[in-house]
Amino acid sequence: MKQIVALVGSIRKDSIHMNLVKHLKERYKDRLNIEILDLKQLPFYDQDIELEPPQSVVAFKKAVKEADGVIIATPEYNWSFSGVLKNALDWLSRVEREMTGKPTMLLGASPGIMGTIRAQLQLRQVLASPGIQARVLPPSQNEVVITQAFEKFDEAGKLIDQSTIEFLDKVIGNFEEFIEE
Ligand SMILES: Cc1cc2nc3c(=O)[nH]c(=O)nc-3n(C[C@H](O)[C@H](O)[C@H](O)COP(=O)(O)O)c2cc1C
Repeated sequence: MKQIVALVGSIRKDSIHMNLVKHLKERYKDRLNIEILDLKQLPFYDQDIELEPPQSVVAFKKAVKEADGVIIATPEYNWSFSGVLKNALDWLSRVEREMTGKPTMLLGASPGIMGTIRAQLQLRQVLASPGIQARVLPPSQNEVVITQAFEKFDEAGKLIDQSTIEFLDKVIGNFEEFIEE
């Protein structure tokens, strides 16, 4: 069983990204143990405390360090990924640099027709930076940019769009192979 951590860049209670990650956690539970990390508990990154950070940061960094892979689900905020997510990545970029070489895949969903593509492009750039250097699943056949997302979940937040469900099956399969490489 592979240990995966999920970083969800939206902290609102009805987040489509949280619902998306919950779908993955349930659907692949026989193969992947997906732990959703709570980014709301993290304080703002502060270099003054990075060597002795609060317990929430210690636990967060440890969970990422021990994971076989990382799933990042990000909303697009103002043509970029969210500040909540950037803050989490800044913590991970320092001291032990837990993201270095870590197999990572991206997901995004938006109500419009761009499906977070601009956010994900910026996220890929940040994930390549010297302090992070994650091993990101290549985009070909693997770009999870879910458009018109509010129509693809039901009122309870369950993913109901069959083509999206099948596409995710393929991408998750590719990610599992990528982790093994
Ligand atoms: C502050 C803010 C900025 C946003 N900017 C964008 C944007 O640039 N592009 C976009 O497609 N959607 C944008 N949206 C809409 C989000 O895609 C939408 O709120 C989405 O549901 C957020 O994900 P969540 O449901 O996981 O919170 C923005 C929403 C907020 C609250």
